[in-house]
Amino acid sequence: MPVDTGLQHSGEFTRVDSAKDSNWFIRFMDLANALPEYGAVRRTLAEGLGPLTGRHILDVGCGTGDDARELAALVGPEGRVTGVDLSEAMVGEARGRSAGSSLPAEFAVGDIRRLDFADGSFDGVRVKLVRQHCPDLDEADNEVLRVTRRGGRIAVFDYDFDTLTVDHPDREATRTAVHAFCDNHRHGWNARSLENRFLDLGVTGVTLTPHTVRMSYAFFQASLGEFVNTTVASGGLAWAPEELAAWWQPLEEAEKRGRFFASISGFALSGTR
Ligand SMILES: C[S@@+](CC[C@H](N)C(=O)[O-])C[C@H]1O[C@@H](n2cnc3c(N)ncnc32)[C@H](O)[C@@H]1O
Repeated sequence: MPVDTGLQHSGEFTRVDSAKDSNWFIRFMDLANALPEYGAVRRTLAEGLGPLTGRHILDVGCGTGDDARELAALVGPEGRVTGVDLSEAMVGEARGRSAGSSLPAEFAVGDIRRLDFADGSFDGVRVKLVRQHCPDLDEADNEVLRVTRRGGRIAVFDYDFDTLTVDHPDREATRTAVHAFCDNHRHGWNARSLENRFLDLGVTGVTLTPHTVRMSYAFFQASLGEFVNTTVASGGLAWAPEELAAWWQPLEEAEKRGRFFASISGFALSGTR
């Protein structure tokens, strides 16, 4: 069982550059994005952006840039995809992965709270798994809408972290862990408010699509698992070492028998500014 004493878990995505191992966050996103259900999320978001050929799309919080490159293939040579991310490490990774590619994708450091673009710069703006980490959702959403041209499209996806399920015999301990993980995110519940929030912001033609992701054991270990390990180690979760080991044991056994099950659900919203 990997026990990490640093606060390096998936609730810490606003501090990638100051983490003791920024690459951990890159590996985390690679694990997540390889899950088949993430392909379905990407397709829903791409559809939500409307016809893509020749469009200029912004991907806010682009991470490693894999999604931006996928979109760049869809906008074609007449279009362009700009990816921005708060983390220099992520932008460096995105640029490195794009080196030598002729796809129309470019990357820059940028903060969703203060985007360095004029009003209405983009035909579409996409934000996947970023808002849940933002300190101030009003600032973030207003910026996303500000840089989208009138009539342009937005596409957003976030998890509702209280929807994380895991087949575990200890319901009480598992509920404690899931609720602590959810509440550790600044906006762990924001996805259930997405529709009402963007309707209130005047977005029209809103579509909301639920997505449930079956978590591989590796992804579960990296997400809820790493949170539980680091939070117990730092004293944020009052579990004795034996309790932590007892919580992991049935999960490890289930995985060995090919019987591990966990899932998490999120919501993809799209609409017109
Ligand atoms: C969970 S990752 C998602 C990355 C990418 N959207 C994907 O789905 O593969 C969250 C990303 O948001 C970035 N991020 C966090 N706070 C941000 C902010 N205020 N502005 C822009 N990006 C931010 C992180 O650096 C990280 O790359």
